Amino acid sequence: MTQILVLFYSRTGHIADLAEAIATGIELGDGEAKLRTVPNLRPASEPVTDDTFENELGYLFVTKDDLRECDGLALGSPSRFGTMAAPLKGFLETTSDLWLSGAMIDKPAAVFASASSLHGGHESVLQSMMTPLLHHGMVVMGCPYSDPGLAATEGGGTPYGPTHLDAEKLRPHEKDMAVRLGQRLVKWSRHD
Ligand SMILES: Cc1cc2nc3c(=O)[nH]c(=O)nc-3n(C[C@H](O)[C@H](O)[C@H](O)COP(=O)(O)O)c2cc1C
Repeated sequence: MTQILVLFYSRTGHIADLAEAIATGIELGDGEAKLRTVPNLRPASEPVTDDTFENELGYLFVTKDDLRECDGLALGSPSRFGTMAAPLKGFLETTSDLWLSGAMIDKPAAVFASASSLHGGHESVLQSMMTPLLHHGMVVMGCPYSDPGLAATEGGGTPYGPTHLDAEKLRPHEKDMAVRLGQRLVKWSRHD
C-alpha cells in the first residue's frame, strides 16, 4: 500500500487538525497515512531523556527510517514569526545522510501550515518548508486552482498548500483543501 508520512509539529492542536484531514484524504485515496511528530525544543539547562516516544497530543515521534520508507511526504508547521517551527527545522537538519544517499529523490511532497493571523505567514511558512524538500530532490506539489476552496477562502488555504487561520476551528473549505491534498499526494506517490 502507498504510504504517506504526515510529519508535523503542533503545540496547541491546529496543525494536528490539518494533519488528520490530510490523513483522511490519504485513506480516501486508498493510501496509508503515517502521522508522526517531533519533540518540543528544550531549554539548554534541561537534561535530555530518551524515554519519551510520543508528544502530549499522543503522536509518535518520527525517525529517519520513516522518511526512508515513505512513498510521499506531507510536512506541516505552525507559523513561528513567519517561518517553520524550530523543532521541525531541527529534525530536518539531522537528515544529511538521507540527502547524501539521495533517499528522498523523486518522492512527492506537500506542505501545510497554520497561523493565528491572516497575514501571519501562511505562504512564507509553506515556502520555508519547501526549500529543504527541494534540496532533498523531492517533487513538491501544491493545491491547484481547480480546488474550490481556493476561491471560497476567507481564512486559510493557498495554492502553495492548505493552511488554517486558527481564530476558530478548522473551516469547511480549509478541511476540504487538506483532504484533497491527501488524495492528490497518494495519487502521485503510487508506483505500479
Ligand atoms: C513563538 C511563536 C511565534 C508565532 N508566530 C506567529 C506568526 O508569526 N504569525 C502568526 O499568525 N501566528 C504566530 N504564532 C501563532 C501560531 O503559529 C498559531 O497559533 C498556530 O496555529 C499554532 O499551531 P498549533 O496549534 O498546531 O501549535 C506564533 C506562536 C508562537 C508560540
